Amino acid sequence: MIILSTIAELRAQIASWRRAGEKIAFVPTMGNLHQGHLQLVDVAKSQADKVLVSIFVNPMQFGQNEDLANYPRTLDADIAGLTQHHADAVFTPTPQLMYPRGLDAQTFVEVPQLGDLHCGANRPGHFRGVSTIVCKLFNLVQPDIACFGKKDFQQLAIIRQMVIDLSLPIEIIGVATERANDGLALSSRNGYLTPAERAKAPALYQILQQLKASIIAGNHNYRALEQQAKTQLTAAGFVPDYVNISNQHSLTLAVDATEPKVILAAAKLGSTRLIDNLEL
Ligand code: PAF
Repeated sequence: MIILSTIAELRAQIASWRRAGEKIAFVPTMGNLHQGHLQLVDVAKSQADKVLVSIFVNPMQFGQNEDLANYPRTLDADIAGLTQHHADAVFTPTPQLMYPRGLDAQTFVEVPQLGDLHCGANRPGHFRGVSTIVCKLFNLVQPDIACFGKKDFQQLAIIRQMVIDLSLPIEIIGVATERANDGLALSSRNGYLTPAERAKAPALYQILQQLKASIIAGNHNYRALEQQAKTQLTAAGFVPDYVNISNQHSLTLAVDATEPKVILAAAKLGSTRLIDNLEL
């Protein structure tokens, strides 16, 4: 696998693949790769000739009191995993390369409305950071397709909207959430959980499954169901941030029984913030 660390190297590699007529898939990540990321690489590989992965812990998407400094950086293990999964190249820029004038001076991309809800309401600036870096990476890589995990359902919706709004000629592929055997959605942040917290963590998925079952059984009292799920989360040891039964496209709170829905949730277990979702 080719390791690219400068923009010039990246552009030369992409240009050589383009000259050879190769279809290029892109998988942006922040590293500390787990089976969920490697599944994105497998899907990308099945849909394109060449797969380029980026590893960049993006400072712009972390809030003041968030875990930027402690975010796990495991480049050697990541490169080994990507090699095993036949990624063709990895781009590993530094913050200086991505934001040479610093974060405050950086031009940004923001997707209104979708970016203000759910996680956006409690993590101001987070989705601006995500859309800006993804847009910048899209401009550098100019892929035919890009793969994102559905665990970050809101992020995926925002990126899809950004691609439409900015007329970027990139097909966005959402890939199903990878879960541990006990149902916990795989996430780099799961590594922060203590053994006792890790034992409690699958309750988040279980509570969402119960909520989904209630809706399917015909309970349309969505706000009461959300409240009930938050009470269950609290009883299971979480500090719930939100549980929202939402419209799958607009991500606004669901009111109508016939619209396609997604249950979105975020909750803290100790100091670790977990998110999950279930589509209906
Ligand atoms: O999902 C992530 O890992 C990040 O938000 C992304 C898309 C790589 C942007 O930094």
